[in-house]
Amino acid sequence: MTKPEVVPFYRAIPRLVRNPVTELARMGTDAAGRVVRLDLGPFRPYLISHPDHVQQVFKTDWTNFVRAGMFWQPLQRLIGQSIMGEGEAWESARKILQPLFTARYTATLAEDMADIIAERIVELDDFALAGRPIDVEHQMTSIVNQAVINLLFGGRITRDTAERLAPEFATCASSIGFRMLFPSVPYSIRVPGDRAFLRSTRKIHEIINPLIERAQRENIESKETKEVVSALLTARLEQGGQADLRQIRDDLVNIYGAASENTAMSLMWLWAVLHDHPEVNARLQEEIDRVIGGGPVRPSHVAEMPYLRMVLQELVRVYPSAWVVPRQTVADTEIGGVRIKAGSQVLISPYATHRLEEFWPRPEEFDPERWANEKAGSRHRYSFIPFGAGPHVCLGQHLFYIEASLLIANLFTRYRPALPYPQKLTPVLGGATLRPKEKLFLQLHPIERNLAA
Ligand code: HEM
Repeated sequence: MTKPEVVPFYRAIPRLVRNPVTELARMGTDAAGRVVRLDLGPFRPYLISHPDHVQQVFKTDWTNFVRAGMFWQPLQRLIGQSIMGEGEAWESARKILQPLFTARYTATLAEDMADIIAERIVELDDFALAGRPIDVEHQMTSIVNQAVINLLFGGRITRDTAERLAPEFATCASSIGFRMLFPSVPYSIRVPGDRAFLRSTRKIHEIINPLIERAQRENIESKETKEVVSALLTARLEQGGQADLRQIRDDLVNIYGAASENTAMSLMWLWAVLHDHPEVNARLQEEIDRVIGGGPVRPSHVAEMPYLRMVLQELVRVYPSAWVVPRQTVADTEIGGVRIKAGSQVLISPYATHRLEEFWPRPEEFDPERWANEKAGSRHRYSFIPFGAGPHVCLGQHLFYIEASLLIANLFTRYRPALPYPQKLTPVLGGATLRPKEKLFLQLHPIERNLAA
């Protein structure tokens, strides 16, 4: 048996308080992918970053590593029982949702998504023409949110209601930081973030319930609609003979939570990266101009922009929004020769895995060229895990690449986006996802001839 690398309490705590994201990753990379044990007092998780170990946890031995404890337990009060859960609830939700997110079906959903994104980008003309920079977080979140909401509810939801939902989810995501780090604190004890989390959970339920009830009434008349809520109602009815409000709500909250925050936060980092890499920016602009011309941007264009795809892949390598994916062991096991007892917490860190020098030369460098001529089998399959892997692998990968491409191509077609001043972004633990600490603004210099088109 091998002993894990141990980071003792007196070193682990100050480092994690300083910056949990970067410090946790550094503990993994300093150990060159060996299993690390963190001593955080009563909580002593194992940090996993080597692709072989990732493969074991996500794929080969996945039933022994369940979503419980850290992160999942506090989130339960929001997401209930559905695809982000475990066991039967997960299995039945996955069976229903998987067909909705295949590459082919996603392509049909993407047509509506392209219209919504294009409309929303046109609205930014006011900022561009007045020379006022946009607040990147606000705009990215709001556009992605509307695109996802439309996917879920079609025309059933007004823009005003959609805009009330987004901040509530953002509050949920940002207010569970304390409970994520200290999952063993009982719920009878109020901790920072609890009140905000519960208030927002209640509001989310209040907004979503009437939408489902309406879809339920309308679904009886038409089964032809393609938005997710209708497909869910039909599938749940077929599966169990009844579709109760709570189950459908859990399903929708799970998808919304998985789809919006991750996509919006991933896109935040792009603008600072492009500022630091003018050559990448220029190549991207050239590709988009050549393929789209003056617009409009359609989903069929996405496959014609391979450089944009490479930039996005590199973006989620360097800034994986799901920066840590926790699991709990069911039975005693062993990873990389280290014995791990049942009930232990295991943290997979995509942020660390993506920075292991053995698999990623010059790991801190943003270099889309690494994705040119990607040959199947040329790198360890589990060295790139922004979307997880194995039976719980993300259902929304295709959708992410399409949605992000549509958004970026629309922006570049109307404007030359640029930071008004250089900004270095610091990854922070703002809650469940990786987000920059700094507020980011983007100047949209109009391309006059395209604005008039
Ligand atoms: C940049 C964008 C995204 C990132 C980084 C991301 C990341 C992830 C990761 C790491 C997992 C695995 C979680 C685990 O193993 O416990 C996951 C699962 C999931 N994602 Fe995504 N995701 C993104 C976008 C989306 C979108 C757009 C959707 C829309 C449908 C989506 C739906 C899901 C679902 C339903 C699951 C649960 C799958 C299961 O457990 O069976 N994701 N995602």
